Amino acid sequence: MASVTLERLTKIYPGGVKAVNAIDLQIADREFVVLVGPSGCGKSTTLRMIAGLEEISSGTIRIGERIVNDVPPKDRDIAMVFQNYALYPHMTVAQNMGFALKLRKMPKALILQKVTETAKMLEIEHLLDRKPKALSGGQRQRVAVGRAIVREPKAFLFDEPLSNLDAKLRVTTRAELKRLHQRLKTTTIYVTHDQEEAMTLGDRIVVMKDGVIQQADTPLSTYHRPRNRFVAGFVGMPPMNFFDGAIRMLEGRMIFEEGTLRNAKIRDPDRLTSVQTGGGGRVKIDAESAVIMEGELTLPGIGFRLDIPERLRGTLAGRIGRHIVLGIRPEHLHRNAVESEGRDCPLSMKLNVIEPLGNDMDVYMETQLNDRVVARIEATAEASDGSSLDFVRDSQVTLYADLRKIHFFEPGESGMNLSLSSGCSKEPTHALA
Ligand SMILES: Nc1ncnc2c1ncn2[C@@H]1O[C@H](COP(=O)(O)OP(=O)(O)O)[C@@H](O)[C@H]1O
Ligand SMILES: [Mg+2]
Repeated sequence: MASVTLERLTKIYPGGVKAVNAIDLQIADREFVVLVGPSGCGKSTTLRMIAGLEEISSGTIRIGERIVNDVPPKDRDIAMVFQNYALYPHMTVAQNMGFALKLRKMPKALILQKVTETAKMLEIEHLLDRKPKALSGGQRQRVAVGRAIVREPKAFLFDEPLSNLDAKLRVTTRAELKRLHQRLKTTTIYVTHDQEEAMTLGDRIVVMKDGVIQQADTPLSTYHRPRNRFVAGFVGMPPMNFFDGAIRMLEGRMIFEEGTLRNAKIRDPDRLTSVQTGGGGRVKIDAESAVIMEGELTLPGIGFRLDIPERLRGTLAGRIGRHIVLGIRPEHLHRNAVESEGRDCPLSMKLNVIEPLGNDMDVYMETQLNDRVVARIEATAEASDGSSLDFVRDSQVTLYADLRKIHFFEPGESGMNLSLSSGCSKEPTHALA
């Protein structure tokens, strides 16, 4: 087993796409690290460079102490499991699993022993004589994992190994992979676009965007302390709600007032594009989520107001009158006021859609200025037909944000999280103007 270290690792494909941009990452021996991010962010390219399947443009890859930049894949002593499993169709399960050992000229009896042991561990012993076409997707996936395990490599690399399985099998196989790692403790680098898979599997998750690491942290730390707006929006489901607005002083209180963006910029899903608007301004919207990212903020006075909790006042004092983005996770909006510092700030919203989830429900709402707010709340007060009694479509509802858990970000899609430093800061809060 071994550590894996990436230094300034970069990949520029012919044609100029910078798929991976000078990333630094240290993966400890025995660690399970998940690379996660939207499609095209450079996860597979990073993994393939570690495997030696993709030439690197610059930087260094170390496996253990050894620099492997120019070492061919077969000599790197790592095993990769692909999304499509890449089993040899003409070989039986046993032959597939033992193939790498055969190439190493390991004695037949020993190969048989290792293959059988591994098959037992994965509960595929009864399938050893079958060919891949006679296996289900889940069984093929196990064989692919088994083939990696028998090699006893220094590290496992997984590229979206569960994406061809149905939802239920994905969840059970996920748990098995985790158990397997707890047992074997082999250093593992695992790629997925699924934030939930990343959160549940990783000792650490590495959130990537546009070939750059946004945050490399434990799952809970990433969830509770996202470094920027991108990470905050990517981790957590349903995603965090964002509100454009400004910090103001009102009768001696520091408040956030929701506003609206004029001449906002639009983001196209593949490329950042500025679009000309009628007023001659630039517009940038994330077309996938239709979130407006940047623009001129206006405060029409019909947005909601929220008292800034004491812990954040010091940090935000220097930003009075400037555009800022408030972030509230759906699970931090509640039916009743939460006991916390500061005042309760009821948010009144119009309810559009209810998605019952059993114990909880997701309610989609709009404020006067923001038409996509979602809350995950307990589904109490149920009518006999299962519908919610107190939450009715098209009605006006009042929810309360847990002020201990709100975040403030700089504007822009990767705007820094301003609420982080203040949480642990020992500095006294500034006197209010
Ligand atoms: N062989 C290739 N040639 C040119 N561009 C590529 C190639 N493979 C991937 N890319 C581009 O590199 C970027 C990162 O791709 P990839 O690493 O596959 O992302 P992910 O696995 O995160 O979806 C994307 O913009 C993709 O289009
Ligand atoms: Mg990929």
